[in-house]
Amino acid sequence: MISIKSPREIEMMKKAGRITGGALKHAGEVVRAGMTTYELDKIINRYIVSHGAKPSCLGYGGFPGSACISVNDEVIHGIPGPRKLKSGDVVSVDLGAYIDGFHGDSAKTFIIGDVSDEVKALLKSTEESLYKAIEIARIGTRLGDIGHTVQKYNEDNGYSVVREFVGHGVGRDLHEDPEIPNYGKEGRGPRLVEGMVIAIEPMINLGTEKVYVMPDEWTVRTRDGKPSAHFEHTIAITKDGPIILTDPDIE
Ligand code: MF3
Ligand code: CO
Repeated sequence: MISIKSPREIEMMKKAGRITGGALKHAGEVVRAGMTTYELDKIINRYIVSHGAKPSCLGYGGFPGSACISVNDEVIHGIPGPRKLKSGDVVSVDLGAYIDGFHGDSAKTFIIGDVSDEVKALLKSTEESLYKAIEIARIGTRLGDIGHTVQKYNEDNGYSVVREFVGHGVGRDLHEDPEIPNYGKEGRGPRLVEGMVIAIEPMINLGTEKVYVMPDEWTVRTRDGKPSAHFEHTIAITKDGPIILTDPDIE
């Protein structure tokens, strides 16, 4: 069931979104070579809690961290741990904040030190495809068009789109209906309506689109060991167009 949010509820969701975006921005400012992903997770936890919110990921389905931290060929759902980040790594941070009854959900892939131009271009394409999808996320747009926009942009750039994991509705639950795939056919699928809040989250691979879940039952990795990128925003569909709720500077 898709939950439609009133203008007042969307207003309330800006608070969770602002803290989510702020935590992610803060993560990007502090992340550096030599830091463990566990240390980064602790910093994220402190940011979210000190802003009066609860980390959405912590305890979700038993997840042990406050953020999903996925390095290089890890696509999503990486568990924070003793791994030390080093120059040349790319690190995807995916987190949410829960406050006043609503969640925010956002992700970004950061670079550590010197990263190859090839991988930087993958990150750029992934992030740009997210903003292209947001741009068309308006009342009446079909979900197939959202997916197609992400898929076409990244495939034209020579990358592959992860199929097994998708975006989703966001609200009182972190994961709500509908599913928002990063692939699709133009003119197909249900239409966006006013009051929907969705997370669009392209997961784009340098090599094969095939992924697998590691024995820890969380970490999703590329089958060929090549790097992956992940960018995500929570957005509201309104009469005035899409509102990026997880913009750290949202008014
Ligand atoms: N933003 C992540 C997602 O949409 C949330 C992960 S929390 C976790 O999948 F606990 F499930 F890892
Ligand atoms: Co999400």
